[in-house]
Amino acid sequence: MSDVICRCRKATKEDVDKAISRGAKTIYDVGIRSRAGTGCGSCRHMIEKMLIAQKNSGK
Ligand code: FES
Repeated sequence: MSDVICRCRKATKEDVDKAISRGAKTIYDVGIRSRAGTGCGSCRHMIEKMLIAQKNSGK
């Protein structure tokens, strides 16, 4: 089972990872690609962390 990051949209960590690997650079981009973060907003800090981790990995 994948971890659900966004309960509003039932988006998993994998969905967000995919969005980032397809070029999402901001929370807004991730929302367009996976719908994560487009509801109540309480998961956005986790998406932000994933974006920062991705940036810091140098990819
Ligand atoms: S849990 Fe992601 S927008 Fe509400």
